[in-house]
Amino acid sequence: MQKSPLQVARQSYQPKMPKALLGHVALHEGKPTQSVADQDEIKKLFPNTYGLPVIDLVPADKTEALPAMNIGVILSGGQAPGGHNVIAGLFDGIKALNPASKLYGFLGGPSGLIEGKYIELTSDIIDDYRNTGGFDIIGSGRTKLEETWQFDNGIEICNKLGIKAIVIIGGDDSNTNACVLAEYYLQKKCGIQVIGCPKTIDGDLKNEQIETSFGFDTACKVYSELIGNIQRDANSAKKYWHFIRLMGRSASHIALECALQSQPNVCLISEEVEAKNMTLNDIVEQIVKVVVERANEGLNFGTVLIPEGLIEFIPAMRKLIQELNDMLASNEEFIGLEGDDAKREYVKSKLSADSCALYRSLPKGIARQLTLDRDPHGNVMVSQIETETLLIEMVSKRLAQLKAEGTYTGKFSALHHFFGYEGRCAVPSNFDADYCYSIGITATHLIAAGKSGYMALVKNLTKPAAEWVAGGVPITMMMNIERRNGKLKPVIRKALVDLNGAPFLYLKNHRAEWADSKTSYIYPGPIQYYGPTEVCDQPTMTLKLEKGCL
Ligand code: FBP
Repeated sequence: MQKSPLQVARQSYQPKMPKALLGHVALHEGKPTQSVADQDEIKKLFPNTYGLPVIDLVPADKTEALPAMNIGVILSGGQAPGGHNVIAGLFDGIKALNPASKLYGFLGGPSGLIEGKYIELTSDIIDDYRNTGGFDIIGSGRTKLEETWQFDNGIEICNKLGIKAIVIIGGDDSNTNACVLAEYYLQKKCGIQVIGCPKTIDGDLKNEQIETSFGFDTACKVYSELIGNIQRDANSAKKYWHFIRLMGRSASHIALECALQSQPNVCLISEEVEAKNMTLNDIVEQIVKVVVERANEGLNFGTVLIPEGLIEFIPAMRKLIQELNDMLASNEEFIGLEGDDAKREYVKSKLSADSCALYRSLPKGIARQLTLDRDPHGNVMVSQIETETLLIEMVSKRLAQLKAEGTYTGKFSALHHFFGYEGRCAVPSNFDADYCYSIGITATHLIAAGKSGYMALVKNLTKPAAEWVAGGVPITMMMNIERRNGKLKPVIRKALVDLNGAPFLYLKNHRAEWADSKTSYIYPGPIQYYGPTEVCDQPTMTLKLEKGCL
């Protein structure tokens, strides 16, 4: 691998860590916990991993020497900056506890465990990947770990390699499956522990314990830089409206954070759209109002941020997508149909009357995108739905009507963008590099203490890293029962944007000012890795607002 100068420089960056993780460590256990909802059902499904205490890691004078322990690690789902540092933390953590310990990486995501595909991660390999973006050290995948034959294959390979624990680095679905696996292995008494780590750029794996998922910080900083650059271009050329869709399959945290960092003219928040029971036309009117008002001031340019998951939060659309998810889950008949027209007719024949009418009203391209392959969790792949072009089309039409009526005299020339993959493998910010390394080290202490069914946790993140608090949270504590693929399942509750929370309220209180004629744009510029703390080590605005630091 030919390394860039930054990559070479970052290899020797030493992540900052909580004080408690610097020396000997002991575990402090809190009170028994319960799940966020549906306690009886979750308890029944997870008799061995339910009710466990939250754990804090605290400094200890000294600890007993530990036998060598081999660990297997899996990267699951979409890439998120910092994953390599979790692995580096695991490696350094187990070697510090006993230098004879080994770290194995399962290749290509959970399927590596099932198929017994792995490599041993040695110091040479790890050193090449310290503080780098991407998941390419071992690759990632979206195979679901949910069937007993898969779990049994896992036992076989772990026994072969003498693996004591599997660490699954993933989002809400992957961590749910990590807990199912932990429970199964405890029931089987096979001696293999399972620990999860909170990953996803989407920022929707957070709760009272987990303050943020890793990757969210870096990804949002990358997108905010790009949005800022576009805003500066728009403000210079003064001729384009930029419709920018931002990744985040369901929740709007990324769009919200980017809006806080860049102050665009419009930022849609899916959760608000749902709460206000808005239709697609309502959303179009909201954008049109800003376009017209700015045009009245002679400003025929601007920016609109659109969360990737928007379409699913428009109630009528959600109903349509739910019907499509249920209808298309492993539907061999549909898969076997030849051509778009046959598929469209099939879908129309199976939908309810309301959903069918909505489906028919959509531009054909968008309707087709809604029926594309599901992800392995049965969800429509929203990253492939071009909501930004749909909105441009609808806003243009509406403006043309207003022009014909004489109430709009501006020019509307719109460009569309989608930012997602640009940010998922960026060089992790100092925040993500530090946070992830600490998560890795934390996971090793949980494993050494024999814990299973936990997610490694590092909190107090708005404080300097030395004051961060590390520990573990039982995964069952974050669970409730939800409908997935037409079936009720125990899952980690997704954190959507809280409309009463400080980050959204900040947007709400400022958006009229950001929409109007005076330029409120902020140009955040690229992530800085070296320099003053206020430039290089700041967490997201979301986190700062949530913690009352702004
Ligand atoms: P995870 O939830 O697995 O972290 O992935 C999040 C995400 O980046 C979403 O923002 C996006 O909708 C999706 O992955 C895209 O998936 P893919 O990488 O399969 O195209």
